[in-house]
Amino acid sequence: MNNFPVSKTVAKMEISSTLKAGQIAANLRDQGFDVIDLTLGEPDFQTPEFIKEYAWEGLQKGLTKYTPTAGLKTFQESIAEFYAQQFNTSFLPTEVIATDGGKQALFNAVCTLINPSDEVLIPKPYWVTFPEIVKFVGAKSVFIETEKTDFVLTAQQVKEAITPKTKLLMVNSPNNPTGRVISPLEMRKIVEVCAENDVYVLTDECYLFFVYSPAKVFTSASLPDELRKYVCVAGSFSKTYAMTGWRIGYTIAGEEWSKQMTKLQSHSTSHPTSFVQYACARAMENREKSIETVSSMLGQYKKRRDWLIPALQKINGFKCEMPEGAFYAFVDVREMLGDKFKTSADVSDYLLREAHVVVTDGAGFGADGFLRFSYATSLENLKNAVEKMKCLFT
Ligand SMILES: Cc1ncc(COP(=O)(O)O)c(C=O)c1O
Repeated sequence: MNNFPVSKTVAKMEISSTLKAGQIAANLRDQGFDVIDLTLGEPDFQTPEFIKEYAWEGLQKGLTKYTPTAGLKTFQESIAEFYAQQFNTSFLPTEVIATDGGKQALFNAVCTLINPSDEVLIPKPYWVTFPEIVKFVGAKSVFIETEKTDFVLTAQQVKEAITPKTKLLMVNSPNNPTGRVISPLEMRKIVEVCAENDVYVLTDECYLFFVYSPAKVFTSASLPDELRKYVCVAGSFSKTYAMTGWRIGYTIAGEEWSKQMTKLQSHSTSHPTSFVQYACARAMENREKSIETVSSMLGQYKKRRDWLIPALQKINGFKCEMPEGAFYAFVDVREMLGDKFKTSADVSDYLLREAHVVVTDGAGFGADGFLRFSYATSLENLKNAVEKMKCLFT
């Protein structure tokens, strides 16, 4: 049965390359191989106990029914309050919409703004889903090369890429896959350039809390209202609180954009799970504990990063900068390309075959010649993986 008349928009889309790489690792493991999976874009930590307890509390309170489409009032209020305390923001609770993860937040924002004749700016390397959403709405992705500025987007690059058709810039900082972080000052300049040209900005802040000092944490939700009215922040509990399976995130956007996203969501998922919203609201209210939990995870990621990057740099043919955020090492393997390996995908296939180390090829992120290594796994796994790779490339 291969004659299913798939729609033109979905036919153009690619399956998520990161999920595909994870599947390869899972399949090998099922076949009995001792696989080291460095593809995972998800924390290896368990969801903190206190959040699990809040979810149970929500269930016991009978929160098993529909909630308003934009989310429980307590959810919206707790996010607004948490951000106000943490980042000195002043947006209203009604400017928050609870979504089924960061992915739905991004989909809602793009689908409510973009028409097929529009252009959407996407800096390279990008998170795999960005161009796929643009395909879904039938618009055109215009990619911005950022290698000259060490993969950190600048306002100047945005300015040069804007055309009369540009409607939106999608930007992700801290970045998956590069681990790069845009400074607060540059991010403000980027939004200013966009606002001057009537271009909206969708900032994917799913890794907001995973920034290593001296890089600075910054949310565009803290910009003044005249800039913020062009911004939609996509946030998520998935990485921050190790809650990938719970499917909960949110948008923070101006009232009109939020109204349109609520309308759209009312016809898709309605809202994320009621008692999950409750658990997250309670966690946000318990700000100290939440921050303490995130700091402890950040400490672990930092330890792994500080061990992994120098170790990768010592492998023949690997070049790798120190990531400033998220939990990925982005390795340049272009020096290795030639007769034996034509592309970085050949290098990742070789690692898989010869060392049973699974990593994600950069091509899916618009960065052929690079490999992404996730360090959301134990130090022991990282050490074993490096040992095996060292043997291959000496
Ligand atoms: C940059 C980025 N944005 C958004 C997401 C979506 O996360 P979720 O839908 O689990 O909240 C991910 C997940 O990998 C991501 O890496």
